[in-house]
Amino acid sequence: MATNPIDSCWRCKKNWAKNRKILAKCVLGFGHKTSGGSNGDYYLVTDNSDNDVLNPKPGTLRHAVIQKRPLWIIFARTMHIKLSQELIVQSNKTIDGRGADVHIAYGCGITLQFVHNVIIHNIHIHHIFPSSGGLIRDSEDHFGFRTVGDGDGISIFGSSNIWLDHISMSEGQDGLIDAIQGSTAITISNCHFTHHNDVMLFGASDAYSKDQFMQVTIAFNHFGKELIQRMPRCRWGFFHVVNNDYTHWKMYAIGGSMHPTIISQGNRFIAPHDLNAKEVTHRIYASESEWKNWVWRSEEDLLMNGAIFRTSGPLSPPDLKFNEKDIIKAKPGTYVRTLTRFAGTLKCKERIKC
Ligand SMILES: *[C@@H]1O[C@H](CO)[C@@H](O)[C@H](O)[C@H]1NC(C)=O
Repeated sequence: MATNPIDSCWRCKKNWAKNRKILAKCVLGFGHKTSGGSNGDYYLVTDNSDNDVLNPKPGTLRHAVIQKRPLWIIFARTMHIKLSQELIVQSNKTIDGRGADVHIAYGCGITLQFVHNVIIHNIHIHHIFPSSGGLIRDSEDHFGFRTVGDGDGISIFGSSNIWLDHISMSEGQDGLIDAIQGSTAITISNCHFTHHNDVMLFGASDAYSKDQFMQVTIAFNHFGKELIQRMPRCRWGFFHVVNNDYTHWKMYAIGGSMHPTIISQGNRFIAPHDLNAKEVTHRIYASESEWKNWVWRSEEDLLMNGAIFRTSGPLSPPDLKFNEKDIIKAKPGTYVRTLTRFAGTLKCKERIKC
């Protein structure tokens, strides 16, 4: 059942519920150093309420994520959590929704701001609305005033070593996932995205050149029904887009400005019927004389229904040298359906392989 190298590292084990932390050894790509809450205790979320954002009640998800020590956060039962303000997560955490059907929905989203080492795994995030702002506790010993939020599903700001895996996301107010202002070492894998306009934004500012150090891996995801654009939309950094299934887009799939490097390998791109949207790629605010030097490569991608990937960059590009673990080895695009078959949340039951 495990069809890709991240999943096959843990999914076939019957005793996954007793050995949850094995998961942290399975991440590949630029986020491969993420261990989340592996070195910490388990924290069992038993209460789905979010009534007090200044003094969160023990047993709630908000109380779990503001703790400063490493924690592996799990859920006692299936629950719908309506966040009344953005959920501000501290470093060294895993939010692990396996074994329960956890929805963060009809409220605010998740914020990772100036933190490191966070795993979010196997939850649903949908119908996310802008937060009104106000006083919010962001750690055991600190609270602060937050301004109005955008309504992102997961907002990553100045943060690194982040792994988002097997998340089902749809219908946010702003982006589903944004990573900006010096964020890097991120892997987004096995997620399923539907019903949304601006799916992912990496780098929000043309003026913030530090985002040239951003490295993000996007692997084994399914970009599905009713998506419009930004899968992702990139500025500055280096983006490895490998073995994803793009079955729907209305405007474009992959776009960018400020000369990002985009290496697309082994993806399947099925273009929409609309003749104006056959192009996978989209360069924003740049003339051809400028973007012709941007390194946008397509290797072993499967282009269907008239999809066009417009490549650019030097004809004989320099070999890019990376740590072996940073780069997921692509399979040809013909394998993508199999590799992404279980994208989105999984229904895991104790004592049965997931
Ligand atoms: C997270 O864990 C690492 C390694 O154990 C530690 O060095 C770091 O201080 C922790 N971060 C925070 C913010 O507690």
